[in-house]
Amino acid sequence: MCGIIAYTGQRQCKELLFQGLRKLEYRGYDSAGLSVLSNGHIELVRAVGNLDSLEKELEGDGCTGAHAGLGHTRWATHGRPSTANAHPHLDCTGKISIVLNGIIENYQDLREKLTAEGHKFTSETDAEVVSHLVEKHYDGDLVEATRLSIGEISGHYAFCVIHSGHPDLIVGARKECPLLIGVGEGENFIASAIPAFLSETRDVMVIGDDEMVVMTPDGVQILDLDKQPLDREITRVSWNADAAEKGGYETFMRKEIYEQPDSLTDTLAGRLPAGGGIVLEELAIPDKELAKIDKVYIVACGTSYHAGLVGRYVLENWARVAVELDVASEFRYRDPVLSPTTLVVGISQSGETADTLAAMRQARSQGARVLAITNIMGSQATRDADGILYTRAGLEIGVAATKTHVAQIAAIQLLALYLAQIRQTMDPKEISEVAAELKSIPDLMRNYLKNEASAYEIAKRYYQQPFFLYLGRGVGLPVCLEGALKLKEISYIPTEAYAAGEMKHGPIALLDKGSPVVVVANDGHVYEKVVSNIEEVRARRASVIAVATEGNERIKSLSDDVMYIPRTSEMLSPLLSVVPLQLLAYYIAQLKGCNVDQPRNLAKTVTVE
Ligand code: M6R
Repeated sequence: MCGIIAYTGQRQCKELLFQGLRKLEYRGYDSAGLSVLSNGHIELVRAVGNLDSLEKELEGDGCTGAHAGLGHTRWATHGRPSTANAHPHLDCTGKISIVLNGIIENYQDLREKLTAEGHKFTSETDAEVVSHLVEKHYDGDLVEATRLSIGEISGHYAFCVIHSGHPDLIVGARKECPLLIGVGEGENFIASAIPAFLSETRDVMVIGDDEMVVMTPDGVQILDLDKQPLDREITRVSWNADAAEKGGYETFMRKEIYEQPDSLTDTLAGRLPAGGGIVLEELAIPDKELAKIDKVYIVACGTSYHAGLVGRYVLENWARVAVELDVASEFRYRDPVLSPTTLVVGISQSGETADTLAAMRQARSQGARVLAITNIMGSQATRDADGILYTRAGLEIGVAATKTHVAQIAAIQLLALYLAQIRQTMDPKEISEVAAELKSIPDLMRNYLKNEASAYEIAKRYYQQPFFLYLGRGVGLPVCLEGALKLKEISYIPTEAYAAGEMKHGPIALLDKGSPVVVVANDGHVYEKVVSNIEEVRARRASVIAVATEGNERIKSLSDDVMYIPRTSEMLSPLLSVVPLQLLAYYIAQLKGCNVDQPRNLAKTVTVE
């Protein structure tokens, strides 16, 4: 939540900061702003709304000519979206400015104390206390003032600070919120995520928890909180800067839906060798230990949780291991029963979701082995885990997760096959058959996407409906939950997703003539049961939109509309059956005129609980 960028160098920083914010806008778009060091003073420009509003404010001379500064795009936590609450914030003197991502948990106490000492606050935010703390501690040394301020705050945060008396200095710090350094020649960047500076440099340094960074055009120094310098390697990232562009598509979400076959190919690459077996190199947890695992516990949020739900079916079915699953925000405040033979799998696209990280840390402190499934190299999740399984889906900008979800499903399928291999719950021939089928999915998906024509037509028929019900059984259930989440988050249409067998225990009361009911009805061992549920829906004269397996002609007579997906074995079907539901949600949102890449109130990376 919230995106930060800072620059110091020889070039004018206005455009660099603004373009960096464009790449971070997925992290929040309630307001945005820049503060730059300009001829011995700080110039501040802020605007409510997304970056288009800030762009208007910046037209003309605003912030021009400066060579160092800060940028911020906000997802509001404390204080409604307004210009006063927008970052950057200033201190009382106007000489210090900060941008912050995260939450200062003791801000009320600090604010009262600082107010009693004469500081005047101009916003309702928790972040503003940091600018006043730095002011209070400043005695000519910005690094020391920042260090002393960190000693007074609690919570989780990443922030950067500038002072008008230090025309090319940026000081940053982080605790449990992302902050990375982009190392250039005669210039340097700090940002919440790599895409913010990817068009300028690929050389990245990671800042750790409870560390500070001191940055000038000529160098970057990372310090611990006793101001001791720390060694840090520079990593060259291989991402392509074009990945953050729309590449001819009208939205990032559509581009990312169509990138799914390629993402999936990358997820599988090298992990299903021609000679047979499953190879998961970064797993890092010894096979000997994995063989002893007697329970897998999956923790995640949102779409990642839905991938975890698919994981439950494949882990039980293939690896014959007991699986428990919880949303991370519940897990972390329960008293889960874990042991050294429990494998806790944290799934997080960003690797920065506060609740998932807290759940993983809790699991580790209770002695469980922890595996992170994530898309982001070097993210916090990779540092809080014993082993890693990268989804390798590539950069995802659309707030609604699509390609990363499909990659997460594939990653957990790979894990299930790997455990089946170690635990010998499937014979090698069976594993090879599933592996061969898995390898064929990207092409099936590519063909499907090339020829898909029904989703838009169906969307046109139903987009004005006030409510959608989604029903599924077995591996079709997580697909429904994901389809329903996609529709509600980008079109704002209320949706419910239910286990089809549960419908008659309540949700059936919602159905009326014409109510759209999306049913995942792929061929498989629960297909006939799903058909019975379809009959119950039809008896209430509701409209059935089925996702079904190619070749199933009978479903046409049972449904008002059918979206066919290519035939696969049941356990692999979620990889494909989620795609028509992504498209349906996408087209409905487009027809309603919604901004699918920036749904209201959402942020892609939820670094607050
Ligand atoms: O980065 P994560 O996978 O941990 O994020 C989890 C959720 O916040 C995320 O999946 C969210 O539900 C998306 N808006 C889904 O489209």
